[in-house]
Amino acid sequence: MSPQAGIFISVEGSDGAGKGSNIEFIQHWFKSRLRQVVTTREPGGTPLGEKVRELLLAKNSAAISPMTELLLMFAARSQHIEDVIKPALSGSRVVLCDRFTDASFAYQGGGRGLANEQIEQLKRLVQGDLQPDLTLLLDIPIDVGLTRVSNRGKPDRFDSEADEFKTRVRAAYLQLAENDPARLVIINADQPLKAVQRDIESVLESRFP
Ligand code: TYD
Repeated sequence: MSPQAGIFISVEGSDGAGKGSNIEFIQHWFKSRLRQVVTTREPGGTPLGEKVRELLLAKNSAAISPMTELLLMFAARSQHIEDVIKPALSGSRVVLCDRFTDASFAYQGGGRGLANEQIEQLKRLVQGDLQPDLTLLLDIPIDVGLTRVSNRGKPDRFDSEADEFKTRVRAAYLQLAENDPARLVIINADQPLKAVQRDIESVLESRFP
């Protein structure tokens, strides 16, 4: 692992796939290798982005059209890239991002039915050449994810969507992985946490020796 290069990793998955625990694991993995890690999330990651997140996730938000939802995701992302992600990468840090643009393709594309081309246009506009070096897709069957989510706090606007929506989100994520296997690695999250972490560790060891 070159000490000079920043590393950009995003972690994706359907709701209930266990992103939180695994992000903590990845953070420790890099810290134990003396890397400075910036852990952040989308939507969010900046004061403006966190306000946008509140609007997007609140169940009592006034109706938000799919295109408005997409634009808000990218508005938050634009600020996040400029204020947090690019500076951290320039400072040779590891940026560990809880969701990034793949989530827009999965949720606003697959889930809401917006055209991939429109999402691509915004991606080009907001990201330019910036792309995660590695994206871990924690994949889990919908029913297993739902059981896990039902065991925790209040469901947000996306948790409350119908099962068909979640099925489309998962299918869109798997399609993204199929289209870009060099960047997007599928991790089977329907296993005990230790086994998931072993799989993640072997990906990290091979990508960042
Ligand atoms: P997250 O904090 O990962 O919630 P959870 O722990 O419930 O998975 O993400 C918040 C929600 O935002 C999640 O349901 C997915 C959604 N989302 C999008 O719809 N589009 C996006 O571009 C991003 C980044 C997130």
